[in-house]
Amino acid sequence: MANRKKIKFGALIHGVGGNISAWRHPEIPADASVNLEFYKKQAQTAEAGLFDLLFIADGLYITEKSIPHFLNRFEPVTILSALAAVTRRIGLVGTLSTSYSEPFTVARQFGSLDHISGGRAGWNVVTSPLEGSARNYSKTDHPTHDERYQIAEEYLEVTRGLWDSWEDDAFVRDKEAGVFFEPSKMHRLNHKGRYFSVEGPLNIARSKQGHPVIFQAGSSESGKNLAAKSADAVFTGHESIEEAKAFYRDVKGRAAAYGRSPDEIAILPGIGPIIGRTEEEAERKYEELANLVSIDKALDYLGRFFEHHDFSQYPLDEPFPELGDLGSNSFRSGTDKIKRTAKEQGLTLRQVALRSATPRGEFVGTPEKIADLLQRWHEEEAADGFIVHSAFPSGLTDFVELVVPILQERGLYRTEYESDTLRGNLGLPIPENRYTAANRKVTS
Ligand SMILES: Cc1cc2nc3c(=O)[nH]c(=O)nc-3n(C[C@H](O)[C@H](O)[C@H](O)COP(=O)(O)O)c2cc1C
Repeated sequence: MANRKKIKFGALIHGVGGNISAWRHPEIPADASVNLEFYKKQAQTAEAGLFDLLFIADGLYITEKSIPHFLNRFEPVTILSALAAVTRRIGLVGTLSTSYSEPFTVARQFGSLDHISGGRAGWNVVTSPLEGSARNYSKTDHPTHDERYQIAEEYLEVTRGLWDSWEDDAFVRDKEAGVFFEPSKMHRLNHKGRYFSVEGPLNIARSKQGHPVIFQAGSSESGKNLAAKSADAVFTGHESIEEAKAFYRDVKGRAAAYGRSPDEIAILPGIGPIIGRTEEEAERKYEELANLVSIDKALDYLGRFFEHHDFSQYPLDEPFPELGDLGSNSFRSGTDKIKRTAKEQGLTLRQVALRSATPRGEFVGTPEKIADLLQRWHEEEAADGFIVHSAFPSGLTDFVELVVPILQERGLYRTEYESDTLRGNLGLPIPENRYTAANRKVTS
């Protein structure tokens, strides 16, 4: 990133929220996850706050125990296409699984979103943790954790190859001469690999940012390697600045080992700020949310990470149960952390379930306190920026109206967009078309 001096922000728009019971709070519209007006308003608030991007997460399998937002929500590329029409500068990043889709289709979808939005598209590459997804996609088995990452790596190579199908000046559209395109500027990928066989070319050209921005979310060894090798940005989650710094150093170091500049990859931890005019008000808001969550709901929430394991079979106030390998083929980095923390801190099942379902994090307090923390995380290289997910809809407005001006005053945040593309605002280079580059080398 050219400009590490400035903090980057993404807004996770997540309907009724990641909290299992937040939909019951009076401030939250109970249908927010499928309410276009709600998404539009949040998007426009984030853009008024000069955020780099909107972020839409996703999943491919639900049960009766899933959190309300997961039960009934928009498909990411579809909602982002609608939001492209009501925003002008903000980036539009959506999650799409490499384990349950085809590169040709996904390259088209994000290629189209990139054109529709004038170069603002981003794709959050995920490998899908939930094994039930296989049963929704006509597959007998969910690929193993390692294999999912191998698939993802080849998948990304194919997608990027397809995005270069047309050189930037391929479509001449000369009406007089009757020439729509220059055949030498159209390229077939002819990819034949272990998982994919794709001829090409893709039926959409590159946008003005070259390729959509690649995000990656997944923090295991394989996840970090994929990010370091192939991603422009990483969405991650940490409970403390120490943990975040270690992750930051680790991924930037791996990127350097792949021959990349550490500045080419932005690390963006997720944070859930709760802002109050006073410390007490912020704490009260947190308590309001946390108190909505019953222990039964918290156990359901926890179970999803562990292959929908039924935690109600264990005593609540005894040490967190021994689970062996359970969870390592789904949310491996997340379930490893839960098991490790429970052991190190001697937590009971009740404590683990409530902490997971109502995470508090550090970012609870007055606007000044939140700004101080953001500055510290940024300056101490724990983050290049943040994915902000506000539990309350007014949380994003408070962030934009109260926290952003403090950061601007301190010179830590932009006062206007630098560019009209997502790459431009993130300070990422436009990838040159591989065929144009090869041709240039031959002729120079
Ligand atoms: C911060 C973060 C956000 C994620 N977002 C999604 C998502 O929106 N959809 C999804 O299917 N998986 C998501 N994942 C799951 C990962 O893609 C991955 O399947 C899972 O974390 C297991 O990989 P890991 O052990 O490398 O973390 C996310 C993971 C992390 C850490």
